[in-house]
Order: sequence, then structure tokens, then C-alpha cells
Amino acid sequence: MKFGTKVIHSGLETDPTTGAIITPIYQTSTYVQAQPGKNLGFEYSRTKNPTRTALEKSIAILENGNYAICYSSGMGAADAIIKLLKPGDTIIANKDIYGGTYRMFEEIFSPFGLKFKYIDLTDTNNLSSLKDEKTKLIWIETPSNPLMDIIDIKAIKKFLNKETIMVVDNTFATPALQNPLDLGADIVLHSVTKYLAGHSDIIMGGLITNNKTLYEKLFLITKSCGAVPGPMDCFLALRGLKTLNIRMAKHCENAIMINRFLEKQSIVDKIYWPGRKEHKNHLVAKSQMNDFGGMLSFSLKNDSLKDSIKIISTTKLFKLAESLGGVESLISHPASMTHASIPKEEREKNDLKDSLIRLSIGIEDGEDLINDLKQAFNQIKT
Ligand SMILES: Cc1ncc(COP(=O)(O)O)c(C=O)c1O
Repeated sequence: MKFGTKVIHSGLETDPTTGAIITPIYQTSTYVQAQPGKNLGFEYSRTKNPTRTALEKSIAILENGNYAICYSSGMGAADAIIKLLKPGDTIIANKDIYGGTYRMFEEIFSPFGLKFKYIDLTDTNNLSSLKDEKTKLIWIETPSNPLMDIIDIKAIKKFLNKETIMVVDNTFATPALQNPLDLGADIVLHSVTKYLAGHSDIIMGGLITNNKTLYEKLFLITKSCGAVPGPMDCFLALRGLKTLNIRMAKHCENAIMINRFLEKQSIVDKIYWPGRKEHKNHLVAKSQMNDFGGMLSFSLKNDSLKDSIKIISTTKLFKLAESLGGVESLISHPASMTHASIPKEEREKNDLKDSLIRLSIGIEDGEDLINDLKQAFNQIKT
């Protein structure tokens, strides 16, 4: 099956008791057993729930994986991964990652004796340290949040020891544009909250793997620690997934138009979008992704915090809000919002300027989106 068919049919079975074409919301905490241990495959919904199982099957198939587990948030999924490790282990992450992931690493897991190192993984000259035997896990976002760093997944794999677990957060690309398991990743992470669900109405995470041992360990962590989503949210994610392919096509189309518009604006300095020829590792993006996605950031020539705050507060269609990946366009200011938990010196070392504005380009009419940005830019020119 091609991807456009997979999103509609994968993992979904007609309900055996009623013939319902859509997976029902099994709003139940427990399941009646004939005898202790004799049941229909479900015992208690923290461990397994049929609506969640249907979603997990779907997501696994979309990422070309054998196993998936869904979580009550993307961070719940990330938390489960780190619990695979033990004190003294080193985790290497790219210098540009989601601020909430950085906060979890530094404020929650560092005090437990895990060591986190942040290096520029876009540059293959920096990869020799990955062989260090204490490096147990490597954490990649590609494209990254918010600077759209592109990391060569296949190249990184070659630098790793066999036992080092490679995690790719595929939230920005989605399986419509990139399948990290096919490129050598051991675990793919999603904030399902974003493009997979696609309608800004739930919080959810997902992990996908082909490695049975990792899956079994993650399953034990999940049923023991309990960060699982409810069946209603799983139903909404299943519904959202069906349009993932066509939504992503429109997000990408609108991003092309907005990039062209921004290139002509005298107030705009750098544009961070992997579809640009000038973007670092553009050719890597071209080879490992099917298209370049709907996330784009840009900075202002005068690097004025005041001007960028004015822009993000003046757009009307681009709503000022955290999050991304919904059908509606959002605008945000990473330095004070999604990445505020990263210290200013660290942000600046990594080119995350105070004037940086991040767009989650929705699927509205592209011309309307451009007109919205135009009127906001006019406010600061006058
Ligand atoms: C790239 C990335 N990964 C993970 C997360 C965390 O996901 P959630 O908000 O669903 O916990 C986010 C949230 O913005 C994100 O942008």
C-alpha cells in the first residue's frame, strides 16, 4: 500500500461485534475475566485498551515499525525512553532540541546521575565522540525545533557503537515525509499532539520500534509507570491520522509560498527551512525526506525583540500560541515560549536569537496567510 492508502486503512479492523467501520471508544478501565488470567486479551486499561491498541497498530505501520506504544504526552514517551538507562550513562543530543526535552534532561534526570551532552550533530566532524563507550543513547530531532537542523540519520548510525540506542524525534517531519527506522533509528518518537493528530485537540505521545527487546522493556516501563492516553484521545488521534497525507501535502505547499514571500522582505534576516538551497544539509534533507515540511523559523535583521513581539501579537490568522502541527497556522516566539527553559547563553551559542519567530504553517489558503504576515510586517515598518 502507498502511504495515502495506509493512513486510511492501516491497522484498522471492522469491529467484530457490530460491524462498525470506525474503531469504538472502549471507555472502560477493566475487563471481566472468566477465571483469573482467562480473558479476551485485555485485563486493565493501564496495560492495554482496544482503542489504544488500534491506534498503536496504525502508527507502527505508518512508521514501518513492528511495535508502537502510545503515551499521555510526547514528554511521557520521552520519559519512558530515558528510563531505559541507568545512572552514569551518557546521552548525546543535538544542540538544538525542543525546550521541554532539554528541561526534562537537565532538571529531572541529571540529578539522578545521567549525563547529557549537547553537540552540533549537523556537522560530521563532531561525530567521533559518539564512539565513547559511556554513550548509551543518542537523541536527534530532524528537522529540529526551532532551527530546523537537519541531521544525517544514516551517517550518524555509522559512528555509533552497536549497543548505542538511536532515538529520532520525528514530530516535525511525520512518517508522511520521513521514516527514521528505515534509515537506522532504533526508536522513533512522536508528539502525537502535533501533526499525527493534527487538530490541536489532544495531548499524546508515541514510540515506534522494530526491536523486540526494546519494545518489551518500554512496555514494562509504560504499564508500570502509567503514562498512558485515554480511549477518547486515541479515537481522536485515529481520526486525525486518516488525513495526515493530504494535510502534510498542503502544509508543505504553503511553506514554499511563505518562504518565497519572506525571502523578499527587507526586515527578515535568516530563514530556517530545510527546503532552502542555502539551508545547512539541504541535500541531506532532500535525500532522507520526501518533502520539507510546514515548520519554518526566521529572525529579523535588527534582531529586535520588540519588533518580533509586535509581529507575533499582530497576526490574525497566525494565532499566537505554543504547539504546532494543527490545521490552523500558529506563530510563536521560542526564546520566551517553547525554549524559555534553555538559558539565554546556551540559546545564543546555538543561534537561537531573541528575534527568532517560529511559524507552524497551517492548511489555510496560502495567499491569506501571506497577507496576514504582510499586514503584521507593515505595523513595524511604520
Ligand atoms: C519536537 C518535539 N518533541 C516533543 C514534544 C513534546 O510533546 P508533548 O507536548 O506532546 O508532550 C514537543 C512539544 O512541543 C516537540 O516540539
